[in-house]
Amino acid sequence: MPITALRHIRRMRGGAQAHLLEADDGHFYVVKFRNNPQHHRVLVNELLSAVFLDYLQIAAPAGAVIQITASFVDANPTMQMQVGGREIPVEPGWHFASRYPGDPALATVYDFLPDALLARVANLEDFRAILVFDKWTGNADGRQSVFFRAMVRHAGGDPEGGPQARPVFVARMIDHGYAFNGPHWDFPESPIQGLYMRSLVYEAVRSLDDFQPWLDQVVNFPETVVDRAWKRIPADWIADEEDALEGLLEELLRRRTRLPDLISASRSARTNPFPNWR
Ligand SMILES: Nc1ncnc2c1ncn2[C@@H]1O[C@H](COP(=O)(O)OP(=O)(O)O)[C@@H](O)[C@H]1O
Ligand SMILES: [Mg+2]
Repeated sequence: MPITALRHIRRMRGGAQAHLLEADDGHFYVVKFRNNPQHHRVLVNELLSAVFLDYLQIAAPAGAVIQITASFVDANPTMQMQVGGREIPVEPGWHFASRYPGDPALATVYDFLPDALLARVANLEDFRAILVFDKWTGNADGRQSVFFRAMVRHAGGDPEGGPQARPVFVARMIDHGYAFNGPHWDFPESPIQGLYMRSLVYEAVRSLDDFQPWLDQVVNFPETVVDRAWKRIPADWIADEEDALEGLLEELLRRRTRLPDLISASRSARTNPFPNWR
């Protein structure tokens, strides 16, 4: 369901110059604007990724399409981007929104955790899951995630409270603007591509089997989910680019069977990211 921006909170870090907004569904979102300084295709990449990650049940924020009205732009002059020292206003229309976990006034979200805390993240297996996804979609950025405190009943990252709940950190995978190589819409391949900078998250890896069930899920990824994702893209994000998008998604489907090889090839990186896979 499309949502509408209600309140501007603040600007976020990062090259796309996203801003934090509150929407009319009661949630907060980190919003990348259609006229962001990177490229309008990063919105397409984010939305496709959000739909695919939701299907694969990999821990990532819900993605949405958000409407920003002309009157909201006028009422929020600090909601701007900067390019070459110039202030660029947000164009009214449809933009990409990544749901913030909770209320930013109450919950702190961290971009990094030191290894001592990272080791205690409840859903570290999601870093293996997302590597399968990043190899598949040719994510040209290093893996990025956010962390927040939650009460969980069991390991696995389900932030539901409950009688035996205990406080842990939970990770959510973010920033898929450079999936499909960002504006290029192709699939760069290298052993280090998609890896998270802390190899601690891969300590459980002993073999290719440790990338299951996600490996099988991608190898058998349904074309219907790809079609469904396409249908959610606002028309003006892909005006005159339908052919390029079709080519991209066809290649994405062709690549599915190569995932085991692409994961195994990471072992030839200069420093083996999987210290325990012998
Ligand atoms: N869903 C989210 N929840 C909380 N924080 C987020 C979320 N998405 C992005 N952020 C924050 O906003 C910053 C910019 O978002 P990111 O997707 O990394 O954009 P960029 O492409 O500009 O790097 C991130 O570094 C992170 O701190
Ligand atoms: Mg980023």
